[in-house]
Amino acid sequence: MVLRLTFAGRKGGVGKTACTVATADDLATRFLMNVLVIDMDPQANTSAWLGMSDPKRTMNDVLYNSTIDGALNAAITETEWPRVWLAPAEEELASREADRVPASDSRLRRALRTADLSWVDAVVIDSPPSLSPLMLNCLTAADTAVIVTDSERGGLDGVARVLSTAAVIAEDSNPTLRLAGIAMNKYDASTSEHAARWTELGELYAGWPRWRLPKRAAVATAYGASAPPRQFRSANSFVLAMRDVVDHILATREEGE
Ligand SMILES: Nc1ncnc2c1ncn2[C@@H]1O[C@H](COP(=O)(O)OP(=O)(O)OP(=O)(O)O)[C@@H](O)[C@H]1O
Ligand SMILES: [Mg+2]
Repeated sequence: MVLRLTFAGRKGGVGKTACTVATADDLATRFLMNVLVIDMDPQANTSAWLGMSDPKRTMNDVLYNSTIDGALNAAITETEWPRVWLAPAEEELASREADRVPASDSRLRRALRTADLSWVDAVVIDSPPSLSPLMLNCLTAADTAVIVTDSERGGLDGVARVLSTAAVIAEDSNPTLRLAGIAMNKYDASTSEHAARWTELGELYAGWPRWRLPKRAAVATAYGASAPPRQFRSANSFVLAMRDVVDHILATREEGE
């Protein structure tokens, strides 16, 4: 079974998309995996980061045609990033939130199950910043979730909400869902506020794997250039921290298998 990983967080702008693309690039370059990135956010930032503009078919079509077997394959396109493929998003994807269809939260899961993904080693799913039906689709389709928060006050409320939602999904509709840990992004070690939030995270989630992902302006530069953060030397500490996350996910997955 291929890895199906999602980065989830309720707060906007915490770095779910940055984690998604950095992870996809890491799996593809360091582990030579064929990676399918699925953009489930109508803002389509992941699609833009991977250099996709004006796609012909998107996850909007896939969810709309969710009863058709193999609908996902028609939306998958190559990217300029080696070994990374994309099922892009578009703004209209937001309309799928309001669909009243059977098993509405399982549409992405079904799309993955009925697609030909025999050539794919890992699926990385970017989710929107809300506990919306699209995010529920991401958590229902994934086997591994990493919660992403920023290092500011209020970020931890979002963590609790996503965790409890994921726990319900794991209980009710997706028993394979595993919460791999919590990533605190945009962390600035010179800021006492961030250090306090890290301590607080440790107190609240003592038994959980936790990672600090450093704040590096080059991450945003990479987005502007539609390039992997790895290509920017000053994003190095962020890239290395993401590798720890990926190593942990792969190692604990092997243990669980
Ligand atoms: N570690 C980091 N250091 C500096 N900038 C970062 C870092 N991570 C992300 N960013 C930048 O912060 C902005 C928001 O990040 P990103 O788009 O990944 O967040 P998001 O959680 O996906 O947002 P949304 O909720 O809108 O989908 C982007 O400009 C991104 O390049
Ligand atoms: Mg995003």
